[in-house]
Amino acid sequence: MSKPEVIRAPKGLENVIVDRTGLSGVDPKGEHTIYRGFMIEDLGENASFEEAAYLFLYGKLPTRSELYYFSERLANLREIPDGLYEAFKQLPDTAHPMHIAQMGIAYMGTFDGKAMDLSEELLYRRAEGIIAKMPTIFANGYRISRGQEPVRPDPTLSHAVDALRMIIGRRPREEEARLFEVTLVLYMDHGFNASTFTTRVIASTLSDMYAAVAGGIGALKGPLHGAANERAMEMLLDVGLGDIDGARMYLEKKLASKERIMGFGHRVYKVRDPRVSVAKKYLSRYAEENEEARKLYEMCDYIEKLMWERKKLPANIDFYTGPIYHLLGIPIIMYTPVFAMSRTVGWVSHYIEQVTNNRLIRPKAEYVGPMGLKYTPIDERG
Ligand SMILES: CC(C)(COP(=O)(O)OP(=O)(O)OC[C@H]1O[C@@H](n2cnc3c(N)ncnc32)[C@H](O)[C@@H]1OP(=O)(O)O)[C@@H](O)C(=O)NCCC(=O)NCCS
Repeated sequence: MSKPEVIRAPKGLENVIVDRTGLSGVDPKGEHTIYRGFMIEDLGENASFEEAAYLFLYGKLPTRSELYYFSERLANLREIPDGLYEAFKQLPDTAHPMHIAQMGIAYMGTFDGKAMDLSEELLYRRAEGIIAKMPTIFANGYRISRGQEPVRPDPTLSHAVDALRMIIGRRPREEEARLFEVTLVLYMDHGFNASTFTTRVIASTLSDMYAAVAGGIGALKGPLHGAANERAMEMLLDVGLGDIDGARMYLEKKLASKERIMGFGHRVYKVRDPRVSVAKKYLSRYAEENEEARKLYEMCDYIEKLMWERKKLPANIDFYTGPIYHLLGIPIIMYTPVFAMSRTVGWVSHYIEQVTNNRLIRPKAEYVGPMGLKYTPIDERG
């Protein structure tokens, strides 16, 4: 049998198509984000978290009764075991919420005696459970590790309202909840991004969904992926909200020393990130009634134009979600967790797509280390 041809992929797998997906993607020109056939602008403007999550899991927008029962199932699955609340008490007050969530999701895995059973019914039930519990794990893991009282989920509220309530500790106003919900829809999925690909690699070994989601959380934690929204907000606070002159000087200095500006650039979108226009539209609506939001909006818009002029780099979604979360009173360290709560929908949907049409993902590496060395007894080593 002849040896299969070796294909050398570029470092970072840039521009390499490794598989097909019917979940989400970018059009060939790299201008539009598509969720199961719908443009992200359309869903971002119109869909609730539950509608978009249903679309990802079940491949179509729900009817009124499908949405009712799906929302009810998610609401009733939101609570986590008492033992997990207890476990959160053992954590140091410096514990990173992404580590806490990896622990929380693994803990949930230990309670699923059929975690390795990949039958269709169990896959979907498990996926709904993981999506539902993620905000409770993140919000209460963070609260309890910081010595605060937990805020237990309220099944009478929608997913987005309850998630934000558990994070900020009060029931959000309607316009706050919708601003938050829009970012959840925008973050839900994005082709084979690093955390989704990680999830799919784990799925391809036929490991369980909890392990795959914990892997996704790990990949998302990095500043080149999920944590860019936190770094972008830190930069805006460093400059001083509303200080346009300060922003210009800050940026020029960073660019002169070849530093990366967080919230700019993208592996796929080279001209515009379509998610930005939806986030900007909602932020500008919110800014009509809120002075701090207006200042932040103007500053971000200015920096966006300057970065394009100077580096031809577009703002990405993280540049605008950071300010939105700041306005909603979410602590900076919880920005990536909010991203993760939403991306969980994508991760579990990709997990299901992978395991139901699986081939182990196992690339090769070119070995470039030394060869032919011989073992020497420890006393003879120099
Ligand atoms: C997202 C990111 C990793 C994609 O990078 P990429 O496709 O691998 O692009 P490269 O790293 O090859 O960068 C290409 C050029 O643009 C520059 N560049 C890319 N992003 C930049 C940024 N945010 N600030 C300043 N310069 C940037 C690089 O320095 C490089 O310049 P050079 O050709 O002079 O060396 C990158 O843009 C980045 O680090 N952005 C900041 C983090 C971020 O916002 N991540 C969230 C993504 S949604």
